[in-house]
Order: sequence, then structure tokens, then C-alpha cells
Amino acid sequence: MARPASPERSRLARKLGRDAESCERAARAPVRELLGSSTASRLGFAFRDNLWAVNLMSKARQAALISCLRQSDLDPDPFNQFDRWFKLALESNLPEPTAMTLATADREGTPSARIVLLKAYDQGGFTFFTNFESQKGRELAGNPRAALVFYWPQLNRQIRIAGPVSKIAREESERYFETRPFESRVGAWASSQSQPIHSREELDNRMEELLRQYEGKEVPLPPYWGGFRLVPGWFEFWQSRPNRLHDRFRYTRLSEHTWKIERLSP
Ligand SMILES: Cc1cc2nc3c(=O)[nH]c(=O)nc-3n(C[C@H](O)[C@H](O)[C@H](O)COP(=O)(O)O)c2cc1C
Repeated sequence: MARPASPERSRLARKLGRDAESCERAARAPVRELLGSSTASRLGFAFRDNLWAVNLMSKARQAALISCLRQSDLDPDPFNQFDRWFKLALESNLPEPTAMTLATADREGTPSARIVLLKAYDQGGFTFFTNFESQKGRELAGNPRAALVFYWPQLNRQIRIAGPVSKIAREESERYFETRPFESRVGAWASSQSQPIHSREELDNRMEELLRQYEGKEVPLPPYWGGFRLVPGWFEFWQSRPNRLHDRFRYTRLSEHTWKIERLSP
């Protein structure tokens, strides 16, 4: 026999029911309805996503109207899903939308993490550039697996990705290196990333010397600098909801182009 609900449980059930309803409404409601049509017109209706509109509201209204993420909203291919969220992040004037935490570990499994910039992505993987002799470079040489995390607080979204990592072809690194400003290319020669230095002066003097040396000349790609590509074995897409009952979906790779999607507990 079902246990009679306590007043507290009934209140909670009603609240969750209301939240679920308002979430469904918010997911369907157009931006104009959420913002009010005059505000939407004043803002030029530049928003393509209800979530972005929700972010402009007071915390209280956000909690009531925040969008929900349902499995039916997801693309079956996590790269397409990533593309959707990443493009919105790029269009949303966020401070560093391409910044991602890169977690690596040494051979013994001791982890370390830092921010790097995502420079390219496609079905082949996620590419970032760095110094191969840095701490991350050395850790990846000994233990070629890593995890990435994007967090866009203004969009209430996080994406986690993990998988094996390998160096990209040197020609590909060269093509990217050539697009970098002159000073950044010289900087790659001036800095032994992650090595101790005696003083700032030592670095500045080295940079000045190299700027003079390369003035008017091609700056070649240093042998210890280039790109790594992470090939995802899994992705997780996270979107916040009230009461910490967030939406999380994990894609696990079953074969090259087949993915299993599961909802995870928040
Ligand atoms: C916003 C931001 C972007 C960064 N982008 C890169 C990058 O693309 N590549 C890189 O090697 N370091 C980048 N860094 C510096 C790294 O966080 C880190 O300090 C450096 O790579 C040395 O890390 P390691 O000693 O763990 O190898 C960035 C830092 C910040 C805050």
C-alpha cells in the first residue's frame, strides 16, 4: 500500500511539479514571451536561444523559467551537439568562450590541470597548441590521455570531453603557427614553458634579442612546439536547473560513428 505523503513531501512534490511545468513552458516559450515583447524589440531580438534570454533575468525569474534539457533536444552525434553549444557561446560575447580546462596526468597517475584555448575541432577531435616540453607536454608524452572541460557560466552550461591524445602532423602545426602574430611566434622561441627562470628580466632580454634576430625574417616553428588532438571517447553535456537537479547527458562511443546517450543523475 502506498505510504500517505507527509505535508512536507506533498509540498516538495507540488514544487517539483511546478518547476517541471515551468521548465517545459520555458523550453517552448519564444524569447519574446520570456523577455516581454518591448524588451525583446529594444534588444534587437538578437538571441537565438531561450537560455540566453533567461540569463538576462533576475535570479528569481531565472529559477522559475530556466530551460530544461531533454534527450529529444540532443543531436545523436555529440560533435554536432558540441557545435551547437559552442557556436552559441561564440555568439554570446562571453569573455573567453574557447578557453577549456585541460587535465593530464603523469605516468604514476598524478593529475594536473590548466587552461588552454581550443583552436580547432571536427569529427577527428579537439586541437590545442602548446610547448611539447612543458609539464602538460611531458605528461602527455608519458600518458597520452586527457580530459577537457568547458564552462560557460552565463549560459549555465558545462561540457566535459575525454579521450586519447596525440600530436598533430608537423605541417598542420606549421600552418597554424604561421597565422600567429610575429611577437607570439618569437615568444614561442623565447620561453621554455614550465621551466624555472631566475627573473623576469632574463625572459625580457631573451625576447628582445630574438625580436632583433628575426626582424624582417621568417620565424620558423620551434621543434618543441605544436598541436595536440584529443579524440573523444565520451562527452558530457550539463545544463543547470533549480534545486541542483541539473540535466546531464553522457555520450559514450560505441564505434567510430555510433554513440550511446544516457541521462546521468546530477
Ligand atoms: C585564458 C588562457 C588561455 C591559455 N591558452 C594556452 C594555450 O592555448 N596553450 C598553452 O600552452 N598555454 C595556455 N595558457 C597557459 C596555461 O594555462 C599554462 O599556464 C601553461 O600552458 C603551462 O602549463 P603546464 O606547465 O601545465 O604545461 C592559457 C592560459 C589562460 C589563462
